[in-house]
Amino acid sequence: MYRTHNCGELRITNVGQNVMLSGWIQKIRKLGAMTFIDLRDRYGLTQLVIDDKSDSELIDAVSGLGREYVVKIEGKVIERSSKNSKIPTGEIEVKVENLITLNSSETPPFTIEDDTDGGDELRMKYRYLDLRRNPVKEALMLRHRMAQEVRKYLDSKDFIEVETPVLIKSTPEGARDFVVPSRMNPGEFYALPQSPQTFKQLLMVAGFDKYFQIVKCFRDEDLRADRQPEFTQIDCEMSFVERKDILATFEGLTKHLFKFVKGIEITEAFQQLSYQDAMTFYGSDKPDLRFGMKFVDITDSVKGKGFVVFDSAEYIGGICATGCASYSRKQIDELTEYIKKPQIGGKGLVYIRMEEDGSIKSSVDKFYTPEDLKAIADKMKAQKGDLILLMSGDRKKTLTGLCELRLEMGNRLKLRDKNKFAPLWVVDFPLLEWDEDVKRFFAMHHPFTSPNPQDIPLFDTDPKEVRANAYDLVINGVEIGGGSIRIHDKQLQQRMFEVLGFTPEDAEAQFGFLMTAFKFGAPPHGGIAFGFDRLCSLFGGADSIRDYIAFPKNNSGRDVMINSPSPISNEQLKELSIDVKKA
Ligand code: AMO
Repeated sequence: MYRTHNCGELRITNVGQNVMLSGWIQKIRKLGAMTFIDLRDRYGLTQLVIDDKSDSELIDAVSGLGREYVVKIEGKVIERSSKNSKIPTGEIEVKVENLITLNSSETPPFTIEDDTDGGDELRMKYRYLDLRRNPVKEALMLRHRMAQEVRKYLDSKDFIEVETPVLIKSTPEGARDFVVPSRMNPGEFYALPQSPQTFKQLLMVAGFDKYFQIVKCFRDEDLRADRQPEFTQIDCEMSFVERKDILATFEGLTKHLFKFVKGIEITEAFQQLSYQDAMTFYGSDKPDLRFGMKFVDITDSVKGKGFVVFDSAEYIGGICATGCASYSRKQIDELTEYIKKPQIGGKGLVYIRMEEDGSIKSSVDKFYTPEDLKAIADKMKAQKGDLILLMSGDRKKTLTGLCELRLEMGNRLKLRDKNKFAPLWVVDFPLLEWDEDVKRFFAMHHPFTSPNPQDIPLFDTDPKEVRANAYDLVINGVEIGGGSIRIHDKQLQQRMFEVLGFTPEDAEAQFGFLMTAFKFGAPPHGGIAFGFDRLCSLFGGADSIRDYIAFPKNNSGRDVMINSPSPISNEQLKELSIDVKKA
């Protein structure tokens, strides 16, 4: 027997009881005649106390201990003289009568404390030690709670969880595939699923009606804080539904999670924003709506005053930062440098300062009279004390630049509060994206996404204007999920493949199994997938999804703990009929 209680369990009501605990040694402190040990397990910390009048065997056992040793103790629960209100066991301690070392430990390479001295790579190399730290452990506990609540909600709505295969054929998500060679079929490869997209559609053809799966997906793409090569989706599909049914169901799931995991009740309906409006007013298809600073387009009101930069611009627009008229020259220069960074590519920043005394100062005073500036300020609804920031140039690039400027101002003004949540649906994405390099259309989502029914005639006249019956769930500027109503009509699917430049043979080779299935009575259907890691990190208030994944990869896609990827033996290569070229 190793324990009667865990290390987070004992309270003042247990005083006087003989107990047995097992766990790891977090810390040892000697204070005069007393030795104090913090004993830790998943459930918490309990203070142990040993006085130097204890029997010599116990004193010897204690003297040999170090950090992260695993021990079993027996002793009596006593009330602490100096209580610690910060931990649930802080009113008691256990006076140790017997201690057995179950295992020793080398000195860990970083401190196992909430604030550790270990760098990212070191912590990833020893991830099992990092997972002993409270913040990482709690992140995984949050993930567990989220998964339980997802299952509870979806089960209550008659969704059934079905597992789909991992060794498959390329899926249509549009990233690069990870591939797996087949020994039994020399020269042939499986692809790992970028999502279970085609399988969930087949489950609808099979009549399952409502499917979900918390499932690993694999995409070989450049990594960022919110992207891992293997990540998890809450993947869902429903039959006999329209867009509004799907949005209602998954708005319900999101609200359920907020309520039962975060204790936040959201009663109002999520805002819906068209892709067009999201781009026009926020320069992004995933706008952070925790704060305002909507863009105002002033292209038509500022031309013809001799300011060449504006006169030659396709688009001129800006944001109004409330209460920022006092920004110094230095602060404005910093913002200008910020938007000029190569990854943002802004050319410059024009400001208009609405001084408290009612005067208006601007970096373009030379070209614009006070009346002109007042007219701009009125258009932008600026008040005394506000700062207007304007950018100009090519429309698309300027909107993207303004988006970065708006987010930067949001950060500076502390408007991006991690405890505030602004969910919205972005709808009506374009169905197709034109790629100038290869001169053809690509599906913005995937080739099974249905167009908005009223836009179907545009296929023949103006394909780029066709809107998709697709939607993204965005929270705090993060794309949490995305999905669409699917095409279930054979002719429309064929038309879509034609527009995408697939020959009938290409379509058959890649998706023939799905096209065949659709010949046997495919119901109208649609679905969505949530990025589960992103949802967890949003709920946990973190910027990176890494801490919400038990064993994540680093930015080069490596698992530095198990040192993978790694070469395989010549025998294995031979079995797989693979020749590897030397780099
Ligand atoms: P999509 O490609 O939009 O849709 O993916 C759904 C959600 O998955 C998350 N996500 C990621 N999270 C972490 N790392 C990544 N590399 C990564 N890539 C995507 C995002 C995203 O919103 N089959 C469709 C869904 C459907 O149509 O039903 C799909 O996979 O949060």
